[in-house]
Amino acid sequence: MVIREAIEFGKDKLKDSLYTDPIKESRFILSFLLNKDLSFILINPDYELEEKISEDFTNIIIKRQAGQPLAYLLKTANFYGRDFYVDQRVLIPRWDTENLVEQVLDLAKTIESPEILEIGAGSGAISITMGLEIPEAKINGVDISDEALEVCNINLERYKNSKVKFFKSNLYENISGHYDIIISNPPYIKRSDLEDLQREVKNEPLNALDGGEDGLDFYRDIIKFAKDYLKESAYLVFELGAGQYKDVKNILLANNFSTIGYKKDLQGIIRVIWAS
Ligand SMILES: C[S@@+](CC[C@H](N)C(=O)[O-])C[C@H]1O[C@@H](n2cnc3c(N)ncnc32)[C@H](O)[C@@H]1O
Repeated sequence: MVIREAIEFGKDKLKDSLYTDPIKESRFILSFLLNKDLSFILINPDYELEEKISEDFTNIIIKRQAGQPLAYLLKTANFYGRDFYVDQRVLIPRWDTENLVEQVLDLAKTIESPEILEIGAGSGAISITMGLEIPEAKINGVDISDEALEVCNINLERYKNSKVKFFKSNLYENISGHYDIIISNPPYIKRSDLEDLQREVKNEPLNALDGGEDGLDFYRDIIKFAKDYLKESAYLVFELGAGQYKDVKNILLANNFSTIGYKKDLQGIIRVIWAS
């Protein structure tokens, strides 16, 4: 098979996929498998692919046609400029979540050697990014899922950062001490909306998505006990689902957080709330 034929195959198989551009995606997969940049794919339509590459390409396209997320098939997701290992054990880190990291970097500037707790670490991408971006920070990332923690440690091994530690905890269950910042991108999808999620998202772990009846269970549970684990004038920072700002703000106010700020994403949606 030559590159042109592979692209044709991908275009045909993915033509009914709703959330992708079949040609662009086929080119991207080939460039990933060949470890060459996109321009190579564009200017070498008659390049003969090795049998193994043709086979891998075909398998990936067929799984994509069946709705598996590309990040799981390639076992990689880019977050904040770095590549993280991902597979079906964890939520794929979204670029939207970089807003959360940016907010924490901003708040951390004013704190000497900040101690940070992430609840619901998933792939570990946020904790590891904070560890690499914030000088002198100490980060603990926790998750309830043993499988997610395995992925966190694969990524920690890749980025070798002794300031970051991962361990198992159901919310605060195994947490002791006090932190300068507690951060979470919790499961926040309303249970009744889970059924209507995009086919690809349904491949992601349910316990990374299900936020209870109104989507707010984790915000309530994390906020309720946060002051027990925060230092004086410390910060709690969350990613929000679209439209959740007002509700989460009210939960924070009802739990004695008085200073509240937010950050919008590029579409103008409030994506991050912080409070102290
Ligand atoms: C939306 S995902 C976020 C993953 C990652 N932080 C990210 O932003 O890509 C939520 C994470 O919370 C974890 N989680 C769910 N319930 C939990 C609990 N009770 N205690 C700790 N973590 C929990 C899930 O396993 C999942 O990894």
